[in-house]
Amino acid sequence: MPVTTQQLIQWKQQGRAIVALTAWDFAIAQLLDLAGVDFILVGDSLSVILGYDTTLPITLDEMIHHAKAVRRGVKNALIVVDLPFLSYQESIGQAMHSAGRVLKETGAQAVKLEGGYPAMVKTITRLVQSGIPVMGHVGLTPQSIHQLGLRQQGKSQEDGERILQEAIALEQAGVFALVLEHIPAELAKHITQQLRIPTIGIGAGSHCDGQVLVTSDVLGLSQRQPPFAKVYTNLRETITEAVANYALEVREGKFPHR
Ligand code: KIV
Repeated sequence: MPVTTQQLIQWKQQGRAIVALTAWDFAIAQLLDLAGVDFILVGDSLSVILGYDTTLPITLDEMIHHAKAVRRGVKNALIVVDLPFLSYQESIGQAMHSAGRVLKETGAQAVKLEGGYPAMVKTITRLVQSGIPVMGHVGLTPQSIHQLGLRQQGKSQEDGERILQEAIALEQAGVFALVLEHIPAELAKHITQQLRIPTIGIGAGSHCDGQVLVTSDVLGLSQRQPPFAKVYTNLRETITEAVANYALEVREGKFPHR
């Protein structure tokens, strides 16, 4: 059965952990879906796959191109697509246009956008009222890298309180789930207990309702991973070795067999 946004909320109520990963193309999306991932994020972290240093340069057209490929690979998982930097911050109209394009052109079911109160509350309210499911994202928000760096957020009492208030405001604005990135585990636990909607942690400890990681980190494809990522296999090594073997066999006349 295809996963829905309502299903994620029910899973929180039932205490069933939500599993999410990012995807950027048909093949990866198909494998994640077959492995039973609950929701797939076409995150703007796909910037890494495209060779950008930060998530700032990626465009809405690039996100849509990749999200369409992901859609073709998925039967069950819910697909959420990141709105990239400056495709939604200018005005509510711009956010409506960008989110509308994502849903119409890709077949994904929801969008995610970064930021909290007060900047994003009106925008999210309007998107949700128009029938567009929105996932929020607070804590470390990589689109603000030049203001926040990539440091853990919410370490001081004051900053933690600010993030909690953002989370509550986003829930009231209608987000169906909230990504908590790189904040202390105790803060994430407290936010998770305060909200009716599920929290999805990345570098936010084990008390969130679900976890998301960047798949290129999990598979060992990234050149460097954030401190909270877990590398489950080293595909950089596996691929380099396979390609080196192929090259050797071609050069030595061992492949193809004569
Ligand atoms: O772009 C992305 O992959 C994300 C995750 C880090 C949550 O937003």
